[in-house]
Amino acid sequence: MSKIIAIATQKGGVGKTTTAGALAAGFKKRGFRVLAVDMDPQSNLSFSMKADSETCATIYHVLKGEARTQFAIQHTPVTDIIASNMLLSGIELEFTDKGREFLLRDALAPVRELYDYILIDSPPGIGVLTVNALTAADSVIVPMLPDIFSLQGIAQLYETVENVRRRSNPRLSIAGILLVKYNPRTRIAREVHGTVEMISKNLGIPLFRSCIRTCIAMTEAQSLQHDMIEYAPNSTGVQDYLALLDEMMEGGITVGEK
Ligand SMILES: Nc1ncnc2c1ncn2[C@@H]1O[C@H](COP(=O)(O)OP(=O)(O)O)[C@@H](O)[C@H]1O
Ligand SMILES: [Mg+2]
Repeated sequence: MSKIIAIATQKGGVGKTTTAGALAAGFKKRGFRVLAVDMDPQSNLSFSMKADSETCATIYHVLKGEARTQFAIQHTPVTDIIASNMLLSGIELEFTDKGREFLLRDALAPVRELYDYILIDSPPGIGVLTVNALTAADSVIVPMLPDIFSLQGIAQLYETVENVRRRSNPRLSIAGILLVKYNPRTRIAREVHGTVEMISKNLGIPLFRSCIRTCIAMTEAQSLQHDMIEYAPNSTGVQDYLALLDEMMEGGITVGEK
């Protein structure tokens, strides 16, 4: 059975989509069967993987019960993906029933056998879409920038995870906090790193040893809709994400037995 990993945090622009895309491409390169799921109405992951958000069935149609999950899967050169669509932003208002946090978990159940890893990209914020991602997931990766505002967000994220554990997914674990756009040469980055280490110890949240350095080649790959590992295999960003993959495998985020 597949491992489902959500990439989530309430902040935007911190590398959630880039992390989801890089890990999806990385797992695929290592021979695993990978499905990416775009839960952000902005569809950035869908775009960067050249998926069709307009004419194909998307995660919106799946959650609405208008399309079977299997039929919403698109096969792109990077990995399989269920794309997103702008309409997804209406989910909050369209679904008011109790149990709406389980929509994604239930939708993925029939395809879990087909994949080793399912990576879910989440929108910023902690609304119903992110709660669905966290409810469907076995673990969550929390990207953060090495700045003071991001530090303040850790406690809030921790609270969200605790709430989801209590209400809809007791087995959710935090795989780790991931420092992104990290420049080890700057003093502020090193200072924040030290503080994150302290906070993560106090809260009992793992912090990935691997940090992702600032890397323009990955942004270029996204805008050109290329597989970033093939586009810039020697770039710092790709090297850092591959190191993160190794760390995840060492740390036991291997194919699940659930
Ligand atoms: N390590 C990095 N180095 C440089 N730019 C990055 C890096 N990671 C992400 N970016 C860029 O930062 C912007 C925000 O990243 P993104 O992954 O879209 O964040 P989120 O999904 O959290 O909003 C994008 O333009 C992306 O290309
Ligand atoms: Mg994003």
